[in-house]
Amino acid sequence: MGFSAEWLALRDPADRAARDVALLQRAATAAGPAPLVVDLGCGTGATWHALAPLLPEDTRWRLVDNDPALLDIARAVVGEAAECIVADLGDLDALPLEGATLITASALLDLMPEAWLSGLAQRLEAPFYAALSYDGRMEWTRPDPRDDAVTAAFNLHQRSDKGLGPALGPDAVDRAEALFAAQGFSVFRAESPWRLGPDMAELQHELTRGIAVAACETGMADAESWQRDRHEAADRSSCIVGHADFLAVPPVRPRETAHV
Ligand SMILES: C[S@@+](CC[C@H](N)C(=O)[O-])C[C@H]1O[C@@H](n2cnc3c(N)ncnc32)[C@H](O)[C@@H]1O
Repeated sequence: MGFSAEWLALRDPADRAARDVALLQRAATAAGPAPLVVDLGCGTGATWHALAPLLPEDTRWRLVDNDPALLDIARAVVGEAAECIVADLGDLDALPLEGATLITASALLDLMPEAWLSGLAQRLEAPFYAALSYDGRMEWTRPDPRDDAVTAAFNLHQRSDKGLGPALGPDAVDRAEALFAAQGFSVFRAESPWRLGPDMAELQHELTRGIAVAACETGMADAESWQRDRHEAADRSSCIVGHADFLAVPPVRPRETAHV
């Protein structure tokens, strides 16, 4: 499925409908009265689309991605409020977090390894809102006897190295809860499943194609025939893909004692 602008546009309506509204609002409140939001792995600006309507007009955005073409699209959409930075998130010490009042990400945590997330939790002093991490669950209204095996193979693939070490895959939000709680953050999570009906048949096609490619790579022989049957049935079946949203709010630090 990759991170092409076409794929991000295709999944956008499902993402928008899936985000948990209460947690989104809580994240907006956590950003404070004069927000500077740093969006990690911003893609074409999905987090800005979701969050900006809930934030003050003069909110500043720092958009970070390692794909300049996606950043160009995001810059065109967000306009002057955005500072766009091409950077690899793998270098935690170089993340441009200065002055941030909220750090955000979406559809990113499941790609990242445990060490990265742990390092982020140790460095952050601002709230962290990470939406739409895949949680390992997929269900179809017209079950197929191969669904469970395909899901297991896909989940195995989700845990493989996506560039920075073995990815957290379906464990991302469970691990985020544990790692941020260990740093004293208050942690919140909410379900944000994709609900893909026949009206989203094109997204179902592309999704099942990507799932089958990944399952094949783990050695599952009948993933291709599964995908052909799923493709053919997409205009009369629905699919739920489990995702979760996550918010971590840092502890209130005691004010520095004034010395006379
Ligand atoms: C699944 S896309 C999500 C994009 C966007 N946040 C959204 O919700 O539509 C993951 C994004 O993370 C970026 N990304 C992945 N690994 C990265 C890395 N190591 N450094 C910087 N960006 C990365 C990709 O270029 C892509 O834009």
